[in-house]
Amino acid sequence: MKYLVTGAAGFIGFHVTQKLCAQGHQVVGIDNLNDYYDVSLKHARLKELAPFDSFRFIQLDLADREGIATLFAQEKFDRVIHLAAQAGVRYSIDNPMAYADSNLIGHLTILEGCRHNNVEHLVYASSSSVYGLNNKTPFSTSDSIDHPISLYAATKKSNELMSHTYSHLYDIPTTGLRFFTVYGPWGRPDMALFKFTKAIVEGNPIDIYNHGDMQRDFTYIDDIVEGILRIQAIVPEKNADWSVETGSASMSSAPYKVFNIGNGNPVKLLDFVESLETSLGMKAQKNFMPMQAGDVYQTYADVEDLYQIANYKPSVSVPDGVSHFVDWYKDFYNV
Ligand SMILES: NC(=O)c1ccc[n+]([C@@H]2O[C@H](COP(=O)([O-])OP(=O)(O)OC[C@H]3O[C@@H](n4cnc5c(N)ncnc54)[C@H](O)[C@@H]3O)[C@@H](O)[C@H]2O)c1
Repeated sequence: MKYLVTGAAGFIGFHVTQKLCAQGHQVVGIDNLNDYYDVSLKHARLKELAPFDSFRFIQLDLADREGIATLFAQEKFDRVIHLAAQAGVRYSIDNPMAYADSNLIGHLTILEGCRHNNVEHLVYASSSSVYGLNNKTPFSTSDSIDHPISLYAATKKSNELMSHTYSHLYDIPTTGLRFFTVYGPWGRPDMALFKFTKAIVEGNPIDIYNHGDMQRDFTYIDDIVEGILRIQAIVPEKNADWSVETGSASMSSAPYKVFNIGNGNPVKLLDFVESLETSLGMKAQKNFMPMQAGDVYQTYADVEDLYQIANYKPSVSVPDGVSHFVDWYKDFYNV
């Protein structure tokens, strides 16, 4: 099969590309290599992918309408795994326009590419942050997601709405995946595990928000990749029996689906830090801080529908996953 992976130089896109190539598929990866975080890490990921003959990289911005249209027309992809986005909840407070360009315009250029080129299935990244003000846990894909609390979350919800419209109007099968705090080797420097590890190794304090009273459904990267690959193989179909009144919000009469991919096992922030301290064999100096704007208190995925359709649930525990991350970090940064 021939795949387009967007965000191939990013954390999740890199791992997905590596797995697809190892399975013998052809992959074209695109990324604009922006400097939201250390660009040398993005180049290092691409260097790891370079040995695969079946991989080609093209530096391209999602918001480049003509560039994306030409790419789709020339390459004729079978499937698209759309992971490029401006990520990060906190950054969206100060840089809202970056989210409009990459996540709104960028999602539309990908939908248009699929529309005009008979793509079999578009799988795209949504986020647990769409659950916003929801208090009922675990978060289920049949819950309302009408109350996001960051612009990032609002753009991810918009991606689901835009995808539904295209699935309905043009019969394009689309599946949105709401990822829950993904971590692991080659992870993102703006996320807690990476920041904590760097600070502890360098002897600096770590900032613990909401005085540590937070929980996250941390999900190991291999579990996320497995979920993406299983779901991309299950192409949604039209369902005339579905109606808004009787069906789940995660489905439609159109070929459209949404799933959570999370560990289903929320971990207290301070327990997460303790796992990191154990793996590093070092103690953290903790700087307790108030809650940050845009952050939610807890994330917790209900993954029953993922299990029903893909016979699969994420399973890697936080102590194991953190220890794999620490091994990678020490090796990569030579510490
Ligand atoms: N990592 C997580 O915990 C998490 C959780 C929920 C959702 N997500 C979503 O999963 C996807 C992948 O996240 P990630 O953690 O790999 O992030 P990442 O930032 O490492 O990867 C995204 C990649 O997209 C590229 N990109 C951004 N804007 C672009 C544009 N306009 N044109 C082309 N390329 C562009 C970036 O350069 C980056 O390499 C994103 O859509 C993100 O919102 C991630």
